[in-house]
Amino acid sequence: MTKTSTPGRHRKLEGWPLVFSILVTISILVGGAAEFIPMVLIEENVPRIATVTPFTPLELTGRDLYIREGCVGCHSQMVRPFRHELERYGPYGRAGETIYERPFLWGSKRTGPDLSRVGGKYPDLWHVRHFEDPRSTSPRSLMPPYDWLLRSELDLTNVSTKLSTLKTLGTPYTDDEVASAERTARQQAAEIAASIEQGGGPTGLADKEVIALISFLQRLGKDIRAAGITAEVSR
Ligand code: HEC
Repeated sequence: MTKTSTPGRHRKLEGWPLVFSILVTISILVGGAAEFIPMVLIEENVPRIATVTPFTPLELTGRDLYIREGCVGCHSQMVRPFRHELERYGPYGRAGETIYERPFLWGSKRTGPDLSRVGGKYPDLWHVRHFEDPRSTSPRSLMPPYDWLLRSELDLTNVSTKLSTLKTLGTPYTDDEVASAERTARQQAAEIAASIEQGGGPTGLADKEVIALISFLQRLGKDIRAAGITAEVSR
């Protein structure tokens, strides 16, 4: 460099580490605020889908089991807007679908298939068999068995608290729904357990963890179908 002009104002600033750091912090904060404030204030940023409603207490419990068991390490819950994904899974994931998900479970690893459209794809009993021994329904599957879910007791003691916490964060549960969460969960569990028994499956699953997980899986993609959204693959 042959340029020997007198140091400019910026050069001088760089020589004052403390002042410089403070100014950098202020400019990052201003930039951050400019990005962040519109995101929280402008509702239309996330287009709402009328049929997307909060999870039922049992589905919420199943969702926590999904998190506990680390299913997100092998399964994504977001269909990307590419033709091969639309043909395989169905409509691509919308932001408005996950407004009640805390934390979201979009995932970034697909050792197994995407699950965001799996609801209704199989009967409840299929899932029981699949968790008991994945190879019994899907030969050569490398998914590990989760057979203990058929034996472990379903813990619903905190379900009301979970709902009320989400309510504080803005999920539109009513006070009634919060208060009766455990009863509602047991009812839904009894219905699913009955459908499994009718299909010739094991009995006595109504108070087992597997039922909550199945209720959660059967919910995935249901809201989008109810909205009449389909995979728009142009040919
Ligand atoms: C080591 C990776 C791995 C983990 C962990 C895993 N899975 Fe899977 N999963 C797979 C693979 C591979 C398949 C495809 C073969 C099959 O159907 O078993 C699959 C298939 C599935 C399917 C059927 C999807 C379809 O569209 O046919 C469901 C439902 C499922 N997994 C749920 C779960 C749940 C719930 C958990 C956590 C309790 C879980 N998986 C954990 C690898 C995994």
